[in-house]
Amino acid sequence: MAKFTLPKNSKVVAGKNYPPPPNAKRVRAFKIYRYDPDTGDNPRLDTYEIDLDQCGAMVLDALIKIKNEVDTTLTFRRSCREGVCGSCAMNIDGTNTLACLKFIDDVPGEVRIYPLPHMPVLKDLVPDLTHAYAQYRSVQPWLQTESPAPDRERLQSEEERAKLEGLWECVLCFCCTTSCPSYWWQGDRYLGPAVLLQAQRFLADSRDEKTGERLDALEDPFKLYRCHTIMNCTKTCPKGLNPAKAIGEIKQMMVERR
Ligand code: SF4
Ligand code: SF4
Ligand code: FES
Repeated sequence: MAKFTLPKNSKVVAGKNYPPPPNAKRVRAFKIYRYDPDTGDNPRLDTYEIDLDQCGAMVLDALIKIKNEVDTTLTFRRSCREGVCGSCAMNIDGTNTLACLKFIDDVPGEVRIYPLPHMPVLKDLVPDLTHAYAQYRSVQPWLQTESPAPDRERLQSEEERAKLEGLWECVLCFCCTTSCPSYWWQGDRYLGPAVLLQAQRFLADSRDEKTGERLDALEDPFKLYRCHTIMNCTKTCPKGLNPAKAIGEIKQMMVERR
């Protein structure tokens, strides 16, 4: 992990400026965080001036254009470009969101882009999610049963299926987790909203038969109870989900089983 530590007394310094193409009429500046821990240099903010008449509508379109046409060293994650894979999560104009769902025109003035906050940075806009994924694995996010498998699939009523709404849609982008002050300070032990929402996704599933064991594993002063209902998570979720509500439902299940 030491590899990802920022240089001592590091601050984000002004970086390079990439001017717009000649004759560009609708120019927008993108100020983008650049950091390569292998160099030992401080992070810097590079400025790329892009002609919006020659660019798609979303922030991810601008990033792809910059990488393809201006600066191939710019590093970021993306895959689906339609809000499904969760990989293009970053901080745009001060808010954690998915670059492929963020319209450039929704950002007033220059577009400031940083990696998700309070995560080690592998390079530029790519955070190290190793710890977050280990926490995800720890809640055993798969259906677990004890009863013999039926001849056909395990059925649910419409009402039982409805309980998964607002949970199954999560794309594990970690925008919520990295906006949560409790996670910033105690993310080593607090599971954070994304992972807790995933835990609730299986707690709420009528087909899962490990509810008691799952609650036992979460009955811990740090894993669950560091949520203080600050609601940053719900405010920032680019999929419109409500992780704070899911966490509240887990706490309610804890109370009800006592
Ligand atoms: S509601 Fe809980 S999980 Fe969400 S930001 Fe606040 S403390 Fe974090
Ligand atoms: S709850 Fe929303 S913000 Fe959090 S990981 Fe899932 S999709 Fe992303
Ligand atoms: S590229 Fe898949 S969510 Fe943005």
